Amino acid sequence: NWTMHNFAQKTIKEIKEKVGDKKVLCALSGGVDSSVAAVLVHKAIGDNLTCIFVDHGLLRKNEGDEVEAVFGEKFNMNLIRVNAGERFLGRLKGVTDPETKRKIIGEEFIRVFEEESSKLGEIDYLLQGTIYPDVIESGTDEAAVIKSHHNVGGLPEDMHFDLIEPLRQLFKDEVRKVGEELGMPKEIVWRQPFPGPGLAIRVLGEITEEKLKIVRESDAILREEIKKAGLDREIWQYFTALPNMKSVGVMGDERTYSHTVGIRAVTSTDGMTSDWARIPYDVLEKISNRIVNEVDNVNRIVYDITSKPPSTIEWE
Ligand code: XMP
Repeated sequence: NWTMHNFAQKTIKEIKEKVGDKKVLCALSGGVDSSVAAVLVHKAIGDNLTCIFVDHGLLRKNEGDEVEAVFGEKFNMNLIRVNAGERFLGRLKGVTDPETKRKIIGEEFIRVFEEESSKLGEIDYLLQGTIYPDVIESGTDEAAVIKSHHNVGGLPEDMHFDLIEPLRQLFKDEVRKVGEELGMPKEIVWRQPFPGPGLAIRVLGEITEEKLKIVRESDAILREEIKKAGLDREIWQYFTALPNMKSVGVMGDERTYSHTVGIRAVTSTDGMTSDWARIPYDVLEKISNRIVNEVDNVNRIVYDITSKPPSTIEWE
C-alpha cells in the first residue's frame, strides 16, 4: 500500500526532525493504536523512546508475555513492564459496581505510570496513539483528553509534556495498514478491541483470582476456535464473560454446582451499535464442549443473542 508506505516514511522523517535527541515516553497497552504509534516513533528515534507497559493483571491469557516478546525482544524497544496485578486486585477487593471498577483501575493505572516515569529522569514528549475518530468524537482539538477518559491507556492531564500524536489523521483501517508496512505481527495489527479495564468488566461483580482464571481460560479457548474457523476478522469482538451465577449440572454420577460462562460475539463497524454474530452451530458446539471439559468449575455455557442497543457489547 503506497499511500500508507509514504505516510510511514514521511512521519518517521518528521518525528526525527521534531524530536532530535530529546526523550519520548509512551504508555504501551498492546492495543493497535498505541502499538503502531510506538513502532513508528521507535523507527524514528530508537532508544530515545521509552515505553511503559503497565500489566494490571487483567489481561487475557499470555497477553503480557506477548507484548514483552514483540516490543521488547522482536522490536528491541526500551520497554519497562510493570507487573502490578496484585496491587490492582488489592484495590478491587470487594468492589462490585462497574463504574467504580473502571474508576479505580484508571486511577491506579495513572499512579503506577507516574511512579515509573518519575524514575526515568528528563522526559520531553509524551506519545499518544490518538486516531482520527478520537479527534472527531471530542469535537475539539483535545482528543487526548477524550481518549484518556475512555481508555485506561489515557494519561494524567497534569503531566506537562508536549504530545506527539502521529496517527491523528488516520482511521483504524489505515492504522492497520501502517502497522503492516512497519512489519508488525498480524496478531497485533488485526487485534480485536480490548477495553482498558480488561477482564475486570468481564467478571461481573466482585473480582477474584479464581473467577479471572475461568474467564481467561475460557476466552483463550473461544479465541482459538474462532481463529481456527477463520472467523476472527469478520467478528468485531468475541470474548467470554462470567455472569457470577452458579447452576446445577451433572458429571458422571455426581451432581455439580458450578459457574456459567457467557459467550459474547458481535459484528460492528465502530462499536457504537452491534449485532450478535451468527457463529455456526458446530463451531459453538466445539467451543462449548471444550470450555466445560477443559476449564475447572464450569458446567454451563450460554450465548448472548442481544444486539446493541438495547444491550452493550461488554456485560458491565
Ligand atoms: P460497550 O460495552 O459500551 O462497548 O458497548 C463499546 C466498545 O467500547 C469498549 N469498552 C471500553 N473500552 N474502556 C475502554 O477502553 C472501557 O471502560 C470500556 N468499556 C467498553 C468495548 O470493548 C467495545 O469495544
